Amino acid sequence: MTMKNLVVATGLSFALLAGCQAGGDEQTSNQTDNQSQNDGQTNDGSSNSSENNNDGNQNKKDQNDSSKKEDQESDQSDEANKDKSAAYPTMAETVEKNGENLTVTNPDSIYVVANKERNLPSDFVPKNLVEPDVSSYAPKDDPKRLMVKEAATALEKMFAGAKKDGFELKAVSGYRSYERQEAIFAYNAEQRGEEVANQVSAQAGQSEHQTGLTMDISTPSLGSSLTEEFGNTPEGKWVAEHAHEYGFVVRYLKGKEDITGYQYEPWHVRYVGKEAASDIHEAGVTLEEFFSEQK
Ligand code: DAL
Ligand code: ZN
Repeated sequence: MTMKNLVVATGLSFALLAGCQAGGDEQTSNQTDNQSQNDGQTNDGSSNSSENNNDGNQNKKDQNDSSKKEDQESDQSDEANKDKSAAYPTMAETVEKNGENLTVTNPDSIYVVANKERNLPSDFVPKNLVEPDVSSYAPKDDPKRLMVKEAATALEKMFAGAKKDGFELKAVSGYRSYERQEAIFAYNAEQRGEEVANQVSAQAGQSEHQTGLTMDISTPSLGSSLTEEFGNTPEGKWVAEHAHEYGFVVRYLKGKEDITGYQYEPWHVRYVGKEAASDIHEAGVTLEEFFSEQK
């Protein structure tokens, strides 16, 4: 069995255990929960020890400097995606015909819009996938821990911001390859029928998870299950209110199912950069509405 097949098979067996709620890409084994709690303790421990030693102030200064540098890098990256003098790219100009289908021409842009009409190239794998330093339900070394670097840094800041406000977030599922999404969709279709599968999970090539710009998130009171209930938790409400401050939007909104093509997913956050996220949040619209209105 190849490594890729092993990863797919492992993920599917976890999904089977979990009853495959909402997309089937989460798992709830006790072993993983314990592992994640241990990860949390490790993180807390190392930040305490750095504050307790004599270099504490210098460490804090270094952290501040590095955080400022990351903010600058993130802003520069926003600028690289969007010329300040120009509008955001329109959906029409970022797609090309590929036989019967439409394929996006900007799969590695933070403004990419992938949906049921707009496919990512099947061989697209984002560059610079990294593991954000956040607590996660995903097993160690699982590709679903990954995001593209800019989004990963923003996720770390968002989780830290939530923690500062008293809310604990945990990552569940980030990057997925084309092949993994194919397996998840097939599993959902088999278990729940194609119609339901189409409302809760994307077909291969149409999932934002393939872009590395997305993370499904949860909170310990719900475990790793991804359900609408997350939207009613204090953590889910915090995410809905504050995600844009870190460059994320809640991608599949309640009441916008006809536009997005998917059920409400309060747990699925998508990185678009602070500027676009704030504009989108303020307008209360989907990416489809936002990027079709530009120019
Ligand atoms: N659940 C979202 C739509 C996905 O599968 O990408
Ligand atoms: Zn998702």
